[in-house]
Parts: sequence; structure tokens; C-alpha cells
Amino acid sequence: GDPVAAHTVERSGARGYFVEKRIITDPKGLAVGLKHFNVITPENVMKWEEIHPEPGVYDFEAADRLVELAQAHGKKVVAHTLVWHAQTPDWVFEDEEGNELSREALLERMRDHIHTIVGRYKGKIFGYDVVNEAFNRDGSFRESKWFNIIGEDFIQKAFEFAHEADPNAQLYYNDYHMEDPEKRQGIHEYLEEMIEAGVPISGVGSQSHFSINNLPPLDQIEKSITEFADLGIDVMITELDLNVLPASVYQYDEDDKERDIYREGLPDSVQQKLTDVYTDLFEIYLKHSDILTRVTLWGVSDDGSWLNYLPFEQTNYPLLFDRNKEPKPALHALIRLA
Ligand code: XIL
Repeated sequence: GDPVAAHTVERSGARGYFVEKRIITDPKGLAVGLKHFNVITPENVMKWEEIHPEPGVYDFEAADRLVELAQAHGKKVVAHTLVWHAQTPDWVFEDEEGNELSREALLERMRDHIHTIVGRYKGKIFGYDVVNEAFNRDGSFRESKWFNIIGEDFIQKAFEFAHEADPNAQLYYNDYHMEDPEKRQGIHEYLEEMIEAGVPISGVGSQSHFSINNLPPLDQIEKSITEFADLGIDVMITELDLNVLPASVYQYDEDDKERDIYREGLPDSVQQKLTDVYTDLFEIYLKHSDILTRVTLWGVSDDGSWLNYLPFEQTNYPLLFDRNKEPKPALHALIRLA
């Protein structure tokens, strides 16, 4: 899967960020994405702030184009994301006077949002990341507005609303740090309760934004697949990319251009390490191909990755195709594996 068709780039500024919408204007990148991937995920255009920027105002243009493009090319769409604490405007949680909504009012607003989107794309979108990032690293609930106002059942309510709107859509819970046993256990317990209560959930996604210099232990990555599989739902890798920059780079001053250490290209040794880490990961993924239903890369080629802008502008090399949309050694290695 790939976010190529509806691609938005974040540029970090002194505070916050601005989002630049650029539906694909790059025929070569699009061709590579369509050739090598069979599932498309919108990177930003279906997030609340983009698709539902003001009360009662929806902007479906980019999402519609993505869905049409996918249909024209026989690709599935896995949409991202219906309920999240980030990239969600403040008004969502407030009434017209700016007072915090009641539980009932926020549930109603959540229901409207989910019904409007999932209803519009009924039969056209294969699956949704219904809720994104609801847990802390220690396995407790994240204190988001969703959690604080509605309570812990906000997650299951979101799944119920999505199922009402399209009973055939696949419905996923998505999060990161699934390699951390505490977090994994907290999520596992919650999902297990949801499943026992009959809430319609089809799968769980592990984002997998990793760094080649700070990879979680491989056995924990493996457990993040196998331990969820016992719930009897799909397990997926949903946002894979591999940051190649050392953590020390981020300690440079923002105006110090020297932090952009690989601006002129990736040294062979780092390229090799990237290949090795991708290989280690896919050895695990392939070993569990009976339970792992999808691996989505968070972008197609290095030039389009969000990691060129996180936490500030820099040159990163996290994906399987280079800036000329040519396959990198890592991709050749994965093809040999498969
Ligand atoms: C990122 C996008 O890639 C950026 O363009 C955007 O500015 C911020 O969000 N986890 C997620 C994704 O679930 O939605 C995030 O995507 C990356 C981290």
C-alpha cells in the first residue's frame, strides 16, 4: 500500500506546521506506486482537519480523486483515519460558545462524521483505520479529548458507528510502539474485551515507523504480530518506514544546515544497513504471512516521505525507491527474499 495518490507533505516550522496539499503531480511517482503496490492509503486527505475542516463543511475532493484513481487501477483503499487526537480541529470538541461538549454531544458529532464519510464511500473503500493512537506507551489510555470527554468506550463506539454506515468495510485499530510489551498488553486487553462484547473489529495495525539506528528488538517486533493474532483478527503493518538519520542530528540547532548530513547522498555503509534492516523485518513478516495480511509503506519514494520534514527539513532515505523513483538495494533484497 502507499500514500502516493493523495500526498501531503508536512513542513515543520518554529511551532506547529503547515500542510501543503499536492495531489499527485508526479507521473513517474504515480506509475511506480501503481506498479508495485495494490493498496492505497491516503496520507492526510481523509484526516478530520482536511476532510471536515469546519462544522458542517466537508471537503471530499482529494479523497474522491484518490478513490476514483484506485478504482480505475483496481487497487483497494484502506482509509486513514476516522478518530484521532491529532490533525483534528479544536472545534470538534466545543460548542458554538467554545464550551466543551458533553459526552452525548461529542458522540453525536463523532457519529455524524463517521456516517458521512463511511456512508459516502460505502462499497468503494475496503477498510478504515477507525481509531488511531488511543494508548500511551505504558498501556494506559491516552488522555485525548476523545477519552476525556467520552470515556474509554469512545473506541468501541467509533467501530459501531463505522459498522452501521458500511457493514462490509474492514475496521481496524491502529497504533505505534506495539513492540513495547506494556503498550501491547494494554491494547490487547482492550481489544479482547471489545471482541468479547461483540464490537465489530476486523484487525489491528502496527505503524512501524522505525529507525535503523534504534530498532526495537526483533523478537518484540515478532511478538507484536503473533500476540495479536490470537485475537482471531487480521494483523497488519500499516506505516512502515526506516529513518536513517542518527538521533544526534536532531540535537542540532534548527538553523544549522550541517544537521542535514546526507544531503549529498547516502553513504554505502548506511545504504547497506538500511537493506539489512528491511531484510530482517521482512524475514519476520514472511515467516508470519499466514497471519499478517498487509504491509503498507508510508510512502513510495524517498522524496515524498514525511521524514524529510520531521522534526525539521532534512534529507532522509526511509523508503524502497530513491529520489529518482528507482528501486533501492533494499527492494532488490526483498524481492530475492520473497
Ligand atoms: C503524518 C503524515 O505523513 C504527515 O504528512 C503529516 O504532516 C503528519 O502525519 N502516524 C500516523 C500518520 O498515524 O497519520 C502520520 O502521518 C505519521 C505517524
